[in-house]
Amino acid sequence: MGCFKEVEHNVFTNTRVSLILQSKSNAGCHVRHHSQDVSKYAGVLYESMTDPEFARSHDVDKAPRVFALRKDGTEDTYWEMIKNDNFHRGMVGHSEIVGASAVLHHYPWDDVSSVVDIGSGIGAFSIPLAKMFPHLRITDQDLPEIIKQAQTAWERDAPEALLDDHVEFVALDFFQGVPVAGKDVYYLRNIIHDWPGAEETQILCNVRKAMESNSRVLIHECVLFHSTGTDGLSVAPEPMLPNFGAGSRTAYHQDLTMWFSLNAKERTVDELKIIGQVASIA
Ligand SMILES: C[S@@+](CC[C@H](N)C(=O)[O-])C[C@H]1O[C@@H](n2cnc3c(N)ncnc32)[C@H](O)[C@@H]1O
Repeated sequence: MGCFKEVEHNVFTNTRVSLILQSKSNAGCHVRHHSQDVSKYAGVLYESMTDPEFARSHDVDKAPRVFALRKDGTEDTYWEMIKNDNFHRGMVGHSEIVGASAVLHHYPWDDVSSVVDIGSGIGAFSIPLAKMFPHLRITDQDLPEIIKQAQTAWERDAPEALLDDHVEFVALDFFQGVPVAGKDVYYLRNIIHDWPGAEETQILCNVRKAMESNSRVLIHECVLFHSTGTDGLSVAPEPMLPNFGAGSRTAYHQDLTMWFSLNAKERTVDELKIIGQVASIA
């Protein structure tokens, strides 16, 4: 794919692309997470799929990741394991790589005054948001240890946004508690895809308790295309393959990553709509 350059037969050299693999950039952190962690989980997929305890389970603690770590004698949960800076900087890198910040240009943020970033990580979304829309009052919410890391990241990367108290950091376990109430937008990016079953309904029900009549919940996920989609967006026009062919590679790759890491998955627009409907009446 042009990552390395063959300078003579069987002799390869780095390029500006391959140097990202070893760089300390946010994209480098993302690549490192995939090459060191996720590939290890992928490597035991066959074994886990033929193991009676793991093969048919949809539990988070029966993901290929758990199978791989048990072999190494480790039992840490995913969220314990990814407390390190590499994962959270990697999420910033991921956002840069897949162009997730496009949402900054495609939502009417000028018409909004307050945003809660739920499961914010270290601010991969909310720091660029604050820089582009300084009028916004932003609340970052994540697990206590991560929210401390978020504060440090904001002090480093967006100190100007902290000057006028437009940003607050409030620890939250989104299964146990309710986010800060009465804000305009409740934004969840790369959160629903971390959970395989009923958990996402529980998260959204807790968000609903915080919402007022003018609040909106925004779910930002990578969407899978299936030719059975009924949303009018999911089927590619001819002569493309109905699922957009190689154009969907990133989505399928991410779907597999969620399976290997958490027994979770990406979803179609229709599946996301159902999750929203279930949470709205639960
Ligand atoms: C895949 S990361 C997404 C981070 C960020 N939203 C983004 O798109 O870059 C998932 C985030 O959910 C947080 N998280 C996991 N379990 C949580 C819980 N029970 N309560 C609150 N946050 C949680 C993690 O700490 C992590 O920051």
